[in-house]
Amino acid sequence: MEQKRSSFTGKLGFILAAAGSAVGLGNIWRFPYLAAQYGGGIFLLVYIILAVTFGFTLMMAEIAIGRKTGLSAIGAFKALNKKFAFLGYLAAIVPALILPYYSVIGGWVTKYLVSFTTGQGTNAATDGYFGEFIAEAGEPVIWFLIFIGITALVVLLGVEKGIEKVSKIMMPVLVLLTVFIAVYTLFMPGAIDGLIYYVKPDFSQFSFMTVLAALGQLFYSMSLAMGIMITYGSYMKKDVSIESSVRHIEIFDTGIAFFAGLMIIPAVFAFSGGSEENLTKGPSLMFETLPKVFDSMPAGDIIGAVFFLLVLFAALTSSISLMETVVSIVMDKLKWKRIPACLAVLGFSVALGVVTSLGNGVWSNIRVLGFVFLDFFDFITNSVIMPIVAIITCVLVGFIIKPKAVIEEVEIGGTKFKAKKLFSVMIKYIAPICIFAILVFSVLEALGVLKV
Ligand code: TRP
Repeated sequence: MEQKRSSFTGKLGFILAAAGSAVGLGNIWRFPYLAAQYGGGIFLLVYIILAVTFGFTLMMAEIAIGRKTGLSAIGAFKALNKKFAFLGYLAAIVPALILPYYSVIGGWVTKYLVSFTTGQGTNAATDGYFGEFIAEAGEPVIWFLIFIGITALVVLLGVEKGIEKVSKIMMPVLVLLTVFIAVYTLFMPGAIDGLIYYVKPDFSQFSFMTVLAALGQLFYSMSLAMGIMITYGSYMKKDVSIESSVRHIEIFDTGIAFFAGLMIIPAVFAFSGGSEENLTKGPSLMFETLPKVFDSMPAGDIIGAVFFLLVLFAALTSSISLMETVVSIVMDKLKWKRIPACLAVLGFSVALGVVTSLGNGVWSNIRVLGFVFLDFFDFITNSVIMPIVAIITCVLVGFIIKPKAVIEEVEIGGTKFKAKKLFSVMIKYIAPICIFAILVFSVLEALGVLKV
């Protein structure tokens, strides 16, 4: 069944849709804990440098490939060069591996939303509450099933347009609330030390892991190196400027991540102190810190409930588009109908998600490369597969189809590609070589072979 490719109405429509896919738990939950863990200011600096160089180059390339071929990842790479068809499949593995653990976190958000709406906010602010919750065998699994159940229902019924409309209204509210919470926290005693830690680079904290973590976060947050932006590009009209759209998406996505960090890191300092132990909490950081902020506010239960509701919507739009991506690949490649494809993806995700959830408690002694399951799936996608997809994409664009093909696509309709020199040098040499080096060093570091 061939469907006519619908397209976005204009530049604003395109930017909003792509930013909608980009903004999610990556910005609000993942960015702050990585920034806290990898030295604060130095992580922020490295992230911004990577965003305007590597991030810019890759997003330009992916959107241009999508618009040029009018196809999503698997078809697009094949259309550019038969030998690179495998790259589409490699890219497609990523959303399938992200969806299960993304939904485990989505389950935690759902639980916190319900806690705050039922007046349990103060409870959630006590030390140890979160750790005990995720270590249980039953409860987090139930919340995970609720979250992925809602996601699957929306994908099955094909009503994601409705969710998207709601989230387009809610997203700006989420941004405003994040800024408000950040400003509120900054007035607490001790918060300024956190602000300094977050914005002032301390070069002694620099390591290869900082760069790899920042690079992985960049791919994750901007939905790069997994074929998503190719699909979005395929829906883009020819007269919309790719370059300025990419700049807008980057500023938007990075801005929200920045404010999320500003809301969480100074709060860690104000409530618990900036010891290494408190800063390296990892995935639990947001869930342990924010309830304390809400608990200290007047009407904190209500503000907390609203906040987690907004985060839940941001998470749902992302999980829906993750599942939709995987389902459409199964439908295309295996020629399955929507319902069986959806159920198969759901089954696979539930199996992996339950394992991930149990890995935080009863199975926490089972380690893969030293990681608990959640951290392992996160590492293998963001820090291994996505950099590999990115390198091969650079080689394909830089040496097989040549940067000229992308530049021509960008300049269709007379728009000038302002950064085309930077783009060519980046995509041919700097990006692939650097990503390769970062990948090798950091994997060695993660495996404990190399100590930096
Ligand atoms: N970028 C999203 C975030 O920051 C997460 C994400 C990764 C995503 N891959 C995706 C969202 C694919 C939609 C589609 O949370």
